[in-house]
Amino acid sequence: MREIGRVAQGHFPTQPRIVRSISKLFKLPPGGLVTMLDAGCGTGQTIHALRKQWLAARHGTTAAVRLYGIESDRGRCAEANRTFAQGPGGGRALWAAIEDCAVSEPGASMLFFNPPYDRIRGAGRQEHLLFQRVKGWCARGGHLVMIVPDCILADAASNLAVSVERNYEALGVFRYPEPEYKQFRQCVLVAQCRERAQARERVPFPAWAKHPSEWPVLPDECPGKPWPVRLVPAAADLRLRRTALSAEVMLDTLTCSPLRSAMLREVLAEAPAVERPLLPLKEGHLALALAGGLCDGVIEKDGERFLVKGTLDRQTKRVAQRPKYTATGEVSHVVDVWRTIYSMKVRCLRDSGEIEDYSSHIEDEAAPPTDGEDEVA
Ligand SMILES: C[S@@+](CC[C@H](N)C(=O)[O-])C[C@H]1O[C@@H](n2cnc3c(N)ncnc32)[C@H](O)[C@@H]1O
Repeated sequence: MREIGRVAQGHFPTQPRIVRSISKLFKLPPGGLVTMLDAGCGTGQTIHALRKQWLAARHGTTAAVRLYGIESDRGRCAEANRTFAQGPGGGRALWAAIEDCAVSEPGASMLFFNPPYDRIRGAGRQEHLLFQRVKGWCARGGHLVMIVPDCILADAASNLAVSVERNYEALGVFRYPEPEYKQFRQCVLVAQCRERAQARERVPFPAWAKHPSEWPVLPDECPGKPWPVRLVPAAADLRLRRTALSAEVMLDTLTCSPLRSAMLREVLAEAPAVERPLLPLKEGHLALALAGGLCDGVIEKDGERFLVKGTLDRQTKRVAQRPKYTATGEVSHVVDVWRTIYSMKVRCLRDSGEIEDYSSHIEDEAAPPTDGEDEVA
């Protein structure tokens, strides 16, 4: 479900009754900033409502709640940005796919995760795949609220419960109440992020996930101890960033760019006509092109094929020694004359496997020094 900008990407917002019940499972800390991240936030209504309900129920706390969301649908993301800005504490939604994002350390006070099920393209279940991406976005000691079909959480083959258990300590798993359960067959898992993830081989399928028919129904009111649990203040604000740019984001950026018309002109312009070279091509030109690697590749002549690779070698050689004399005719010192010699090499592989080497190098090229050579005393 990576493509962004699709209209109906499994947008099933959490039902208002469920949101109200979830809000009653938590309370704000006495002060500080609580950060909430909804991965796949839709229009942002769900965590906006949670913030509203906590702030309305706060008993003398000064805590602020800031909302963050990641949403792959552009329109819903824009709406989430408007919604988050409305409430006290503000917030921000990033238009991106969960798979293309990173979230700054130490993570959010609460990670809200109601993953989509891609029915549209038949890409199948996304819960475990996406959970693997988001599981590290909650701060240690912070809370996870995850809404998934109970058959997925209770299915050992989906690996979801074991992944949760490895990283989080389950505080409670509730079945949706009726009539919502009949419609969605979902459950709400509340868990707390462990200080350290458990080692892979030590994590069996957790007992809390085994018997969905025994899970309590999510109550409309706070069920009493240990609920409501206290949210933890964030050690730092969150930063969301893209780690990859989807084609849609690039297109959108180009569309908004002031260079747009210039780029469009470039793209739509006719290819320039191939002009005749200023000078007739001679063998030397071909040699230069070969040496520069411009002719590398397979070439064909008279039905025969060759794989050609050209390289240029550079050697600095002493080509002469010139004595210098004093006024009395004695040798005062000797000057070394150096020359930089370029030689072109072409290696040619024939169909038969035979390799031929050609080189412009001339052994013992000790031509007399000419202008431009270096003289070193
Ligand atoms: C089930 S809705 C949940 C909306 C909201 N979190 C709530 O609980 O009300 C899932 C949302 O995730 C979005 N989504 C789907 N795949 C996504 C992805 N790979 N990355 C980011 N968002 C995605 C959908 O566009 C949709 O708005």
